[in-house]
Amino acid sequence: MTTRQKPAREASQGSSSRRLVVGVSGASGIIYGVRALEMLKRTEVTTHLVMSRSAEITLAYETNLKPADLRAMSSIYHPFNDIGASISSGSFPTMGMLIAPCSIRTMSEIATGVTSSLLTRAADVVLKERRRLVLAVRETPLHVGHLRTMTQLAEMGAIVAPTVPAFYSRPQTVNDIIDQTVGRLLDLFGIDVGILKRWTGAPMRDDADT
Ligand SMILES: Cc1cc2nc3c(=O)[nH]c(=O)nc-3n(C[C@H](O)[C@H](O)[C@H](O)COP(=O)(O)O)c2cc1C
Repeated sequence: MTTRQKPAREASQGSSSRRLVVGVSGASGIIYGVRALEMLKRTEVTTHLVMSRSAEITLAYETNLKPADLRAMSSIYHPFNDIGASISSGSFPTMGMLIAPCSIRTMSEIATGVTSSLLTRAADVVLKERRRLVLAVRETPLHVGHLRTMTQLAEMGAIVAPTVPAFYSRPQTVNDIIDQTVGRLLDLFGIDVGILKRWTGAPMRDDADT
């Protein structure tokens, strides 16, 4: 018996050109995955969510949300071990996959190709089909093994997009920082949810010499 929210039929799983797989792993910053799902819910994109068991633990530590809340934010939820899910096959077309946040463990597993769950299998499928894989890696500091793995993933076609905030947008709140990061991640799929403050050139300085 599947726990998917909707029948696992091709037609009910969204238009192939507007399906995005969203992976959530057990790195700190689960709010990035939560916010991405919230934002995507406002769009035409059908989200296919898969989250690791560790993500359920960080969800409890870092938010007041329950796994069911995250599932409700997605269009279709796939259990972590359901390696028979649609997103485990390259024949199921998608726009690609965002993993936010992406742990070192999940990142490393994807880099080896030795995938042990639907989360990493779905990422492997995205890579082999030459679709877009965006990894919002969260760890610091990084040892040379982490850095080599990131290089390997970039060479394999993944986009390694660590959750590093920018301050040129003058964030006033933590939510501003989260939104800017999530906006940049979704931008990598050509999805504009209107939360990104874009740099349009140097601002006029009040104190500039004339
Ligand atoms: C509160 C908390 C914060 C964590 N933060 C990170 C992190 O930022 N990056 C990371 O790679 N692992 C982090 N971990 C450890 C991962 O959860 C752990 O390596 C786990 O095995 C990852 O499994 P997964 O990749 O299947 O989600 C954290 C764990 C906890 C409990």
